[in-house]
Amino acid sequence: MAHKVMGICAGRHDGNGEIAVKAALKVLQDKGAEVEMINLFDYNILPCTGCEGCTMQMGNIAMGKQKEYHGCVLKDKDDVDQLVTELHTCNGVIIAVPTYDLAPSSMYMRFAQRFLAYELSFLKEIGVVKEDPHTVAGLIAVGGSMHDWQPLALEVIQASMFTMSITPVDRMMLQRVGRPANVLIDDNADQLARAKEMGEHIWEAMETPVEDRKWLGDPDEGVCPNCHSSLVYPGDKHWDGVEFPYECAVCGCGGTMGTNPNTGRPWLVIDPENGHIRDRFIDKSRAEHLNEIVQTRINFFQKQGEIKDTLAEYKAMKFPTVEIKR
Ligand SMILES: Cc1cc2nc3c(=O)[nH]c(=O)nc-3n(C[C@H](O)[C@H](O)[C@H](O)COP(=O)(O)O)c2cc1C
Repeated sequence: MAHKVMGICAGRHDGNGEIAVKAALKVLQDKGAEVEMINLFDYNILPCTGCEGCTMQMGNIAMGKQKEYHGCVLKDKDDVDQLVTELHTCNGVIIAVPTYDLAPSSMYMRFAQRFLAYELSFLKEIGVVKEDPHTVAGLIAVGGSMHDWQPLALEVIQASMFTMSITPVDRMMLQRVGRPANVLIDDNADQLARAKEMGEHIWEAMETPVEDRKWLGDPDEGVCPNCHSSLVYPGDKHWDGVEFPYECAVCGCGGTMGTNPNTGRPWLVIDPENGHIRDRFIDKSRAEHLNEIVQTRINFFQKQGEIKDTLAEYKAMKFPTVEIKR
């Protein structure tokens, strides 16, 4: 079966992310994959306006109130529609994002926060996407420092994957590569080799039947054994009363805190019965979240009349703003 892989970079041209993506793509190309690469800086990517036009339409279609899905309101105004349509034809993706202020750069977030209008499970259901590409991802955070200055980077990139039903199978953090092409100096040979290994992993995953695919990165990485994120926090009651002692901030799995037998470090022990009911990477579990959105929305529409006067008061309330001199 032919494999097609897109490399996505949100960093500088000829920067460390681009080099790491190229190293991984070259491995894939040599194995016979069709590869392509984009740098988000070369495209017009508008920020999500927050109009909720996509999810309102999805809800209306689900309730039989609307037949055709018109997609994002920005569909014809920038390049995102063409980029995502192309991405939907790829079985693999390698994404490199610079870490700015501990987290993924705004260039990447701007792109990823447009994914909501392209919920793959929804597009499949209504026939816009004919064939599920079962895309697997390798994620690269690129930073000038080490983990302590990139604690939210991989986690947030990873969290951007579930809307598109993309399965991360590997991730790595490029560390201490501040200057462009810093990754090419000898000290970083291991890091570049790791990027190439990511290419191998993406190939291996694409060659594996979808139901048998598994995590190919470091099995002991992170605190969550499901998605390997390092962000596990004490859980609070969810909207429907579900509660876990601890849950993963990225995938949403729940359980108790234990110890990884291989490393002796903290490790989430996922509840064997219910631990995956909030796993955002499972379409069925994510559908529960849609249920939450629908319930919140129904409640709002039922009570909308009650807020007419207070809303008018807030609308009338004006404060000095900042005038820009042009
Ligand atoms: C605005 C800004 C904020 C940054 N913040 C961080 C940071 O919090 N942690 C870190 O490790 N590196 C930080 N860096 C360094 C970049 O992540 C680093 O230069 C990286 O190599 C950029 O990727 P690129 O070479 O692919 O463009 C920052 C750089 C900039 C410009």
